[in-house]
Amino acid sequence: MRSFSSFSRFLLTVMLPLVLNAIAEEQAAIELPVQSGPAALPVPNPTKSLWVDTPGANPLGKEGSTGALTHDADICIIGSGITGVSAAYHISRLLLEEGVDGKDLKITILEARDFCSGATGRNGGHLTPAFFQGVVGYSALYGTEEAVRAIALEQHTSSSIVRLIKKTGAEAAVDLVEGGHTTLLFTKPEVVVAKADYAAAKAAGINVDSVKFLSEDEVKETYGAEYPAIHAPGHNLWPLKLVTHLYNLTKDTLGSKLTLHTNTPVTAIAPIIATSDTSSRRWNLTTPRGPVACSYVLHATNAYASHLLPHMHGPSGIIPTRGQIIALRAAASLDNITKSSWDGNDGFEYWFPRPLAGDETEPLVILGGGRESTKPKFELYTVDDASVNPVVGDTLRRFLPAAFPGKYEAGREPEMEWTGIMAYTKTHDPFVGPVIDPAQPDAHKGQYIAAGYTGHGMPRAYGCAEAVAGIIVADIAGKEYTVPDWLPRHYLTQNRLHE
Ligand SMILES: Cc1cc2nc3c(=O)[nH]c(=O)nc-3n(C[C@H](O)[C@H](O)[C@H](O)COP(=O)(O)OP(=O)(O)OC[C@H]3O[C@@H](n4cnc5c(N)ncnc54)[C@H](O)[C@@H]3O)c2cc1C
Ligand SMILES: *[C@@H]1O[C@H](CO)[C@@H](O)[C@H](O)[C@H]1NC(C)=O
Ligand SMILES: *[C@@H]1O[C@H](CO)[C@@H](O)[C@H](O)[C@H]1NC(C)=O
Ligand SMILES: *[C@@H]1O[C@H](CO)[C@@H](O)[C@H](O)[C@H]1NC(C)=O
Repeated sequence: MRSFSSFSRFLLTVMLPLVLNAIAEEQAAIELPVQSGPAALPVPNPTKSLWVDTPGANPLGKEGSTGALTHDADICIIGSGITGVSAAYHISRLLLEEGVDGKDLKITILEARDFCSGATGRNGGHLTPAFFQGVVGYSALYGTEEAVRAIALEQHTSSSIVRLIKKTGAEAAVDLVEGGHTTLLFTKPEVVVAKADYAAAKAAGINVDSVKFLSEDEVKETYGAEYPAIHAPGHNLWPLKLVTHLYNLTKDTLGSKLTLHTNTPVTAIAPIIATSDTSSRRWNLTTPRGPVACSYVLHATNAYASHLLPHMHGPSGIIPTRGQIIALRAAASLDNITKSSWDGNDGFEYWFPRPLAGDETEPLVILGGGRESTKPKFELYTVDDASVNPVVGDTLRRFLPAAFPGKYEAGREPEMEWTGIMAYTKTHDPFVGPVIDPAQPDAHKGQYIAAGYTGHGMPRAYGCAEAVAGIIVADIAGKEYTVPDWLPRHYLTQNRLHE
């Protein structure tokens, strides 16, 4: 790699309309004492996203929002994003595989707004597993074995999703693109961190053979940006269509035993006083359409988790954090842009070109980021995805024309702009397993959670849902759950009590 301190490099760097090296400040902001109470429910009338609001894209949008409500189920899943629907899929599959007699087990999914209209319906569309990123930090915090598992979880999740899509012939239905992923390294500290993580991963025995470091000349030649980069395998897709496909597969297995009620927020959960009736359920869920009684409850509510679980608000729990996206038409052909997905600036910016549709000649590029321009707030503790932040929008509009001269037209307005709510945690890792309130450890028996992916959920949520589904099915079967090799132990709620 060429020297970084050349004058031209410095000039280009300062010309980027970005706040650089802001990651440490964001982390400090996350760790500040509680700035607000529990999260609100998802707000009505969210901004329109490409994934949800393209005509015909969300056939399940209003499913089960009118008519009779399911008043009784074995398992209630709250939230219809990738976590909730993946959990339903895994539970149905595991019941069959484990030989548990699940013939009559009923699952209902309750969703506050339209189907999959949370983060999964509003995100950046990347399915990018880590290959080596974060290994140094993980090893320091939790030891090398856990660092290896953190990578393994992402590899397991991404390859499982891609395998399932291919096995069920759904590549076209979900717009799966194997375009690889490129990380632009704008500053010297980013290069230093990347090299250290790469070396640590290699030393820990992680396979990094498919990872390539590119010099700024190589990047300029192939991609037209003048920064060094890292290239690795990766996919992009239409997240809501993947979740719809997972729902369809689950429905094929469970038939009428699976129900979905959109536009049905759960507003409270109360224990049901046990009666002599042995079939009595444990939990009574309140919705505006009436109560739902369940034996098991899965909180797949991500950013909104603390609304129903107030002990999870603030830095020791889940902080709702608003992300913003623009869909910008490129000024060059798809061949020139390439099919790679991208990130840069410590992951604050991320983008990829959509496959060409109809008679399009230049691709529509989905770009997210810009939160660092709101520092010191970073859009933390913001649940309002019905509005956009103009400061963030301005940064997003100026970024691609500056980073890829000639490929984007300066001043061009995006075709769409929307926000979505991510779920930040202090360690950036999700909570997976039984709900545990340290102040009353036995108060939530039968309630489970998988949430808190900190803006990096596509290569983790489906795997975390697999784990929590396994925990629930083991409990139903009266068996001990065997934690898979690929699941970081520190994701498990029982190991998170002292954060
Ligand atoms: C702008 C943005 C960009 C992102 N980009 C990427 C990316 O490119 N790659 C990546 O890997 N990750 C990305 N993420 C993160 C990723 O989208 C999430 O980690 C993932 O979608 C989380 O899935 P989930 O099912 O857990 O949560 P969600 O999809 O948010 O689903 C939770 C659901 O629960 C519902 N709900 C909440 N409370 C209740 C209640 N009380 N009753 C009923 N329903 C309720 C919500 O309405 C919502 O539909 C991004 C996120 C955002 C917001
Ligand atoms: C799922 O099923 C619905 C309705 O049955 C159908 O319209 C839709 O195309 C299917 N979606 C995917 C992605 O398989
Ligand atoms: C559940 O709560 C509702 C009020 O929301 C109440 O009317 C109902 O009796 C409760 N059901 C059980 C089984 O406790
Ligand atoms: C891509 O675009 C740049 C600038 O617009 C141009 O110089 C280059 O030749 C193009 N490359 C390809 C492969 O079309």
